[in-house]
Amino acid sequence: MLRKKVEDICNRQVEREGYSSNLYLAMASWAEINGFAGVAEWLYVQSDEERLHMLKFIRYINERGGKAVIPAFKKPPVDYKSVEDLFREVLKHEEFVTASINEIVAVTLEEKDFNTHNFLQWFVFEQVEEEASARAIIDKIQLVGKNNMYQFDRDIMSLRTPAASTPAAG
Ligand code: FEO
Repeated sequence: MLRKKVEDICNRQVEREGYSSNLYLAMASWAEINGFAGVAEWLYVQSDEERLHMLKFIRYINERGGKAVIPAFKKPPVDYKSVEDLFREVLKHEEFVTASINEIVAVTLEEKDFNTHNFLQWFVFEQVEEEASARAIIDKIQLVGKNNMYQFDRDIMSLRTPAASTPAAG
């Protein structure tokens, strides 16, 4: 049975992962209508992954006798100055999510909830990958230069790091 404090902070993460999915969906749509088909594809895939992250939390909370709450999500931004600006926002958001996951880890240690602590290790690893991936993309944009976005857009899918493998339980 989940302790209330752990259940509440996991439900907070349901909202954050769901918002991440919507944020990347909105970014994908912006990229698509601005002619960046490769960037759009990368973001649509990322949006789907974030929905899976949300589902992992929902199912874990319920499996442990808690009650997952599906929240309302705030509307994500609809406009970006440039693709680089967009990916700087991705990195900022992933850093926020990393801090959020770390806060949950800290709560599980306080509450001596080692099952949830174990469940979270997948996310700890995943956040390292997600931040690295956003940084690699920003580096690549700077390397190719803002005037060569066609090449960047064509190649971006090759910059994807494989998603962390799904844990056996959870
Ligand atoms: Fe699920 Fe990108 O944080």
